[in-house]
Amino acid sequence: MSSINKMKGFADLFSPQSDAFTYMENTARRVFGSCGYAELRTPILERTEIFARGIGDETDVVQKEMYTFMDKGDRSVTMRPEATAGVMRAYIEDARHTKESISKLFTTGPMFRYERPQKGRMRQFHQINCECLGPEEPYADAELILMLMRFLGEIGLNGLILELNSLGCRQCRPLYHKALKEFLAGLDKSALCPDCVRRMETNPLRVLDCKVPGCREQIEHAPDILAYNCEACREHFSVVLRILEKAGAPFRINPRLVRGLDYYNRTTFEVVSTDIGAQGSVAGGGRYDGLVKALGGPDIPGVGFACGMERLALLMPEREIARPDFYVAVLDGAGLDEALLIGEELRAAGLTGEVSFAAKSAKSQFRQAGKINARMCVVLGTDELAGNTVVLKNMDTGEQRNVPRAGLASCFS
Ligand code: HAM
Repeated sequence: MSSINKMKGFADLFSPQSDAFTYMENTARRVFGSCGYAELRTPILERTEIFARGIGDETDVVQKEMYTFMDKGDRSVTMRPEATAGVMRAYIEDARHTKESISKLFTTGPMFRYERPQKGRMRQFHQINCECLGPEEPYADAELILMLMRFLGEIGLNGLILELNSLGCRQCRPLYHKALKEFLAGLDKSALCPDCVRRMETNPLRVLDCKVPGCREQIEHAPDILAYNCEACREHFSVVLRILEKAGAPFRINPRLVRGLDYYNRTTFEVVSTDIGAQGSVAGGGRYDGLVKALGGPDIPGVGFACGMERLALLMPEREIARPDFYVAVLDGAGLDEALLIGEELRAAGLTGEVSFAAKSAKSQFRQAGKINARMCVVLGTDELAGNTVVLKNMDTGEQRNVPRAGLASCFS
């Protein structure tokens, strides 16, 4: 019978890739925990409406990329393409704002987007996601960004580029929209992609985000969004930048950074790498002050980000894999029970290692001990069994010594 393969854009993660993911998650828990973030686990499947309303009907994610289907109860459901909308739903449903003035929530897990797969772009990918709900002060934005950069540094990623922009607020954004629409109306429509021709009417900001080279060329002289920020937005952004400067976090301002999701206002940011090809954005986020309200909750501001774990893994330096302390080699079948018990005893003493499940020649057993890179090989042959001893072979020096079976763990210190 023919075997069944995984679907395009999906991956199996064996070690050491899976170890890199665990390491990222553990580091994230520690670093984000140090700022007061607690983990929230939300469902992978949500009602489609959450994403349509949250992310925005006119975004590529909602228009083209969602895994949406009817469930057996005839409800339209969607495999989450990102974590934020679901986190907001949970925040509102649990009335968190009545329990705490600031909610710092951290989420990790698989996300699904039906995109064209390429290096660093999967249909199932993993995000580490943080949301800070409650504060409108720019200090929350600055703390969040510094926390993200600290996390990236701790997993060995320095030298990434932090890009920032400010998208304005409910008051000043309409003025920019108007200016942008006027600018777009003056462009040669035949030089724009069909999506952008539609976006010009429905959601002009999205045109700035288009990756099609012809469109990029056309928008080169589009009005600068920062010039349209109102006084309050300007002040907000300047505090964020001031703190980053004082903390010594390098950044660059990119007035074209509008992000691919509709919920952002004021601070937006991305962390990019020039080392992983076209899909260089390893993290992105920003402020979304109207989102909780748009999803039917109270008018609570928030700011957050997500990193793509697959992209981080591509950039992470190789980490040393911890060596096992022992391999128990069995030369005589009569020693198999004893070998397994030795393994258990050594592990109970805090050591790590493996035990042979079958008696084999010394040569093949040593080969196996070498293969798992054990520090010591514990050899159980016929003589050792009779004498209640074992041979301990140092796999680095080749030195061998006969030691009593009792208290074997102490020989490892
Ligand atoms: P996003 O920019 O859509 O933002 O995704 C965040 C990160 O997820 C990207 O920078 C990238 O590293 C990774 N990513 C996205 N799509 C893929 C893919 N197909 N394959 C591999 N990695 C991918 C959000 O999702 C927002 N929810 C972030 C946020 C949280 N904003 C506020 N709070």
